[in-house]
Amino acid sequence: MSETKHITWHESEVTKAQRQTRNGHQSVLIWFTGLSGSGKSTVSVALEKALFEDGKQTYRLDGDNVRHGLNKNLGFSPEDRQENIRRIGEVGKLMVDSGAITVTAFISPYKQDRDNVRQLFEEQEFIEVYTECSIETCEQRDPKGLYKKARTGEIPEFTGISAPYEPPEEPEIIINTEDNSVESSVNQILSYLKEHRYI
Ligand code: ADX
Repeated sequence: MSETKHITWHESEVTKAQRQTRNGHQSVLIWFTGLSGSGKSTVSVALEKALFEDGKQTYRLDGDNVRHGLNKNLGFSPEDRQENIRRIGEVGKLMVDSGAITVTAFISPYKQDRDNVRQLFEEQEFIEVYTECSIETCEQRDPKGLYKKARTGEIPEFTGISAPYEPPEEPEIIINTEDNSVESSVNQILSYLKEHRYI
């Protein structure tokens, strides 16, 4: 039985297009994916700040933060990660509908889960950003000491060590955080947004 039985969609009288016109820019979901320690959070924080300071309507959703609230009942099994990403995709859709340039930073290790999110959006509304960084470098950085715990087995199913990471095949943007500064990665994304007339 459908769980949406007896539920009807109620249209707003304010449209996404009207919100975008008022904001003076498009709304879009900028979806970072990459290993833990690859720089997703760092670059997405700097990107959100740059957009905000430029007067844009923007909001950021981050794995570690969302798992403190909305998704605190989820762990790191493949099923829980799938549900984590599904919910973020739906929240992202609401945020994009609200007119915001929405930035998400989740490992999102499974290609299928990311593609399912992409399916929720119009083609130009979803920008996948692969935060490329070797597992060796991520492990060296180990900003939260989690790789160390993953190696000893204290943390099971750790992405890149004891759980898979499937890199995107055709991301809109690849930022390499081994060779580039945070600032230059942010500039790369801002240039993309300008070139494609999002902002
Ligand atoms: S995802 O795989 O479901 O997309 P998400 O981005 O929400 O992951 O959360 C990842 C963060 O949770 C990591 O940055 C790390 O701080 C923490 N974490 C705790 N346990 C794990 C684990 N087993 N695998 C990966 N990250 C973990």
